[in-house]
Amino acid sequence: MSHWLISGGSALAGTVSVQGSKNAALPILAATLLIEEPIELKNCPVIRDTENMLRILRSLGCTVKREADALVVDSRTANRFVLPTALSGELRSSIFLLGSVLSRFGAADAPYPGGCEIGNRPIDLHLRGLRALNASITEEGGRIRCAGSLTGATVDLGYPSVGATENIMLAACRAAGTTTIRNAACEPEIVDLQNFLCACGFRVQGAGTPTVVIDGVKQGHGTSYRIMPDRIVTGTYLLLGAITGGDVTVTGAQAETVNPLLMKLSECGCLVTARDGSVRVKAPKRPRAVGFTETRPYPGFPTDLQPQLFALLSVAEGTSVVTENVFESRFRHAQELRKMGAENRILDRTAIITGVEKLHGACVTAHDLRGGAALALAGLFAEGETQILHAERIERGYERMDSVIALLGGTVTRKEESIGE
Ligand code: UD1
Repeated sequence: MSHWLISGGSALAGTVSVQGSKNAALPILAATLLIEEPIELKNCPVIRDTENMLRILRSLGCTVKREADALVVDSRTANRFVLPTALSGELRSSIFLLGSVLSRFGAADAPYPGGCEIGNRPIDLHLRGLRALNASITEEGGRIRCAGSLTGATVDLGYPSVGATENIMLAACRAAGTTTIRNAACEPEIVDLQNFLCACGFRVQGAGTPTVVIDGVKQGHGTSYRIMPDRIVTGTYLLLGAITGGDVTVTGAQAETVNPLLMKLSECGCLVTARDGSVRVKAPKRPRAVGFTETRPYPGFPTDLQPQLFALLSVAEGTSVVTENVFESRFRHAQELRKMGAENRILDRTAIITGVEKLHGACVTAHDLRGGAALALAGLFAEGETQILHAERIERGYERMDSVIALLGGTVTRKEESIGE
């Protein structure tokens, strides 16, 4: 595990470029199994989650190489359909592999997926979708076993699950006939997955709307593809400027994908400018509270930026209310922030945050990826030193965040400990 030591108190300022998107990279990496030719991926973030996904692909027999700034995945050598238990347990997105492994081998055997501690994360919609495509699935002894030759179908998701939409898209690419996903999630990462699949010769349309249609084709072909910028990391880095009273510009970003956050930052009194792939946030002396924020599927306010916004509102002038609609238990950062002097109350899925003028350093725990990022933001604002335990959870999704903070004038020291969790 790793610990971060943060010395707070300086305004962060400067320009940083944003990494490729984790949530686009993971399903695209899973998709490489559908194509029996080499795939070159650019802008794939080097983070724990993608490294774990690559380990799983290697364990299935894929060849993975890094060449200059690109990653090359060649699944011609893939020859196994059983996902390794320990690795898949660590990475919730290993569930995406069910659709692509099943499509490739006619069978898939996976453990129940792991991931963030943000509440019960069922996979019923994934399994319902795969069953509709003619997979027979048994769940036994903590494993999910799928078999069958896939055929197109209409799947109504009921709730627009990001992962289920992506998994069914992957399963449907080589299935016989047409698959229609209704109530599909509309997140930009789904559009990126569609763009990738189309670049490989698959026939997918409608991503970004609630109806995605996939016409099955027998084979895809190799391609070179650049993964979209990470909108959650873009938002987090802008918040580094906002919370410390600084001035941060993020380049290589897609501003429109962070719009719900930019609107909140303007409401807080930040000066926000977006042009030509760069977004700048210049903070006021003290941010103002924002009345009400609720997380929703895209294009609503993203649940993955809720903890970081929570940190900002903890030091804003006035009282803010935040409701978490997407995940049932995503406020574990609230109690950690209280250790630093923040004032908040949680009533079921709603947090009432009374902004304080000062926070002080404390020893806190990153319970999950984005909650950990929120603690780093608070630590940079706080007086004194903050120690974040289990910062490896932050490293699941942020590429060298300590160096990014240093580049902007903040101080983070990273300590690695060899003992496991
Ligand atoms: C993805 C993102 C994650 C983000 C989330 C919501 C990746 C790798 N992760 O996660 O960062 O926070 O979207 O934007 O892309 N649900 C069910 N049954 C299912 C599937 C989901 O009930 O079969 C529920 C979940 O418990 C949750 C809600 O649907 O309450 C949203 O989950 P989902 O959209 O599937 O999120 P993930 O794909 O897991």
